[in-house]
Amino acid sequence: MAGAIALPLASDHAGLPLKLALKAALEAEGHTVADLGTHGPDSVDYPDFAAKVAEAVAAGAAPFGILVCGTGIGMAIAANRHPGIRAAVLHDSTEARLTRGHNDANIACLGARTIGVETALDAVRAFLSTPFEGGRHQRRVDKLSPPGAKPGA
Ligand code: RB5
Repeated sequence: MAGAIALPLASDHAGLPLKLALKAALEAEGHTVADLGTHGPDSVDYPDFAAKVAEAVAAGAAPFGILVCGTGIGMAIAANRHPGIRAAVLHDSTEARLTRGHNDANIACLGARTIGVETALDAVRAFLSTPFEGGRHQRRVDKLSPPGAKPGA
């Protein structure tokens, strides 16, 4: 799914190794990745980096984003506070496929301390390539956000 729109990607210090591995693999597969930090091992606060990716997706600058922290959980909690964001913690490609198909998730959150690089990469690949199924799932997704809170709105 390479394209002109950069895929925003960010992590905190705990997620940095997995983020760098994902970034390298995705770029090798043809994706244009926008690395929004963190760029070093110093301790940082995950909500600050969740906001960078969430704001890019919510503004319509990119359809999807990726966030990595120790567990993926803090990033998901933080990202989901932004209107129009549906962030899901992924442990495998099945969760990735289902959350895209059913929840129209737009940010994938991964845990560097909980899953390995290959499993994370498989999940991201599935996340980026699975379309939203719409239909009955659209009605449910519509109930998650107030009008006007959709990305790019
Ligand atoms: C950082 O130590 C850790 O708390 C953070 O990466 C994340 O796992 C929080 O959800």
